[in-house]
Amino acid sequence: MNIIGPDLLIFGVDDVNACREFASDYGLTAEGEYRFLALDGTGIEIRAKEDPILPEALGTGSMLRKTVYGVADQATVDAIAAELGKDREVRTLEDGSIESVDDHGFVLGFQITVRKALELPAEAINAPGAPAQRDVNTVAVTKQDSPLPRTLSHVVYFVPDAPKQEAFYRDRLGFITTDRFTHVGPFMRPAGTQDHHTVFFIQTPPHMKGIEHFTFHMGGPTDVVTAGTKMVNKGYQSFWGPGRHIFGSNWFWYFKSPFGCNMEFDADMDLHDDEWEAREAMPGADNSQVFLLQYREKWAPMGPPPPKGA
Ligand SMILES: [Fe+2]
Repeated sequence: MNIIGPDLLIFGVDDVNACREFASDYGLTAEGEYRFLALDGTGIEIRAKEDPILPEALGTGSMLRKTVYGVADQATVDAIAAELGKDREVRTLEDGSIESVDDHGFVLGFQITVRKALELPAEAINAPGAPAQRDVNTVAVTKQDSPLPRTLSHVVYFVPDAPKQEAFYRDRLGFITTDRFTHVGPFMRPAGTQDHHTVFFIQTPPHMKGIEHFTFHMGGPTDVVTAGTKMVNKGYQSFWGPGRHIFGSNWFWYFKSPFGCNMEFDADMDLHDDEWEAREAMPGADNSQVFLLQYREKWAPMGPPPPKGA
């Protein structure tokens, strides 16, 4: 199954205006009445929770109503329809996409991906021993930098039966487990991407079923920290970060959001192919990050000059 990754997350929210403002401040661009998009055309759709066009809610308070995956071609859409049609309803929608559910009742869509190929430089660094990545006289940062999310990266779901969820995504949709936290759940990537993960499943009690966070890839760690600093300065509450994960190696910074879940910026995730052997570790602080930093307001050591002879 040549599934590339999430194209669109559809939310039914309590406070549409707060979500629209958050999405805009996060750096997504409004497109039409409901959508906010990253640079490659992936993004989120924000609707009022009562909107009758939305798929049914999970009944747990989760605001995520649907995850729409982008796939390589129509043959993949057809193959998924045939596979899922063996034991559940698969509907074809007006736009040609198909809609069904996973084994936990999360509504899934599959469409030929809307992702546009991006031609943007990665964050470039100069390091002794390696060729310079920035041309001479090219500066790395300015105070005006305003980095934008590039593409929808991954979604983390709370599920009451993580092994069952892993089996469904592996056996029915061709996802591959890249790493796992013991007794918690797997990080998985679909076959059409080498990103370390586009999903992570966290075992939780049934009443918590829903979404823990979602994330867009940024151009590098400086973009993550610059974008996160702007969010702090706008009054949003940092939840975790900035830091760098171990599984996936991605830089992260999570914020509380009005989507009923956290929203993360990430950058520089590991890539894997089928040669990779999944690692396993116990969950906890020591295995979740190599370091964790904390935001503080700007300051400068500009006190009086030191006394003579000091
Ligand atoms: Fe994440």
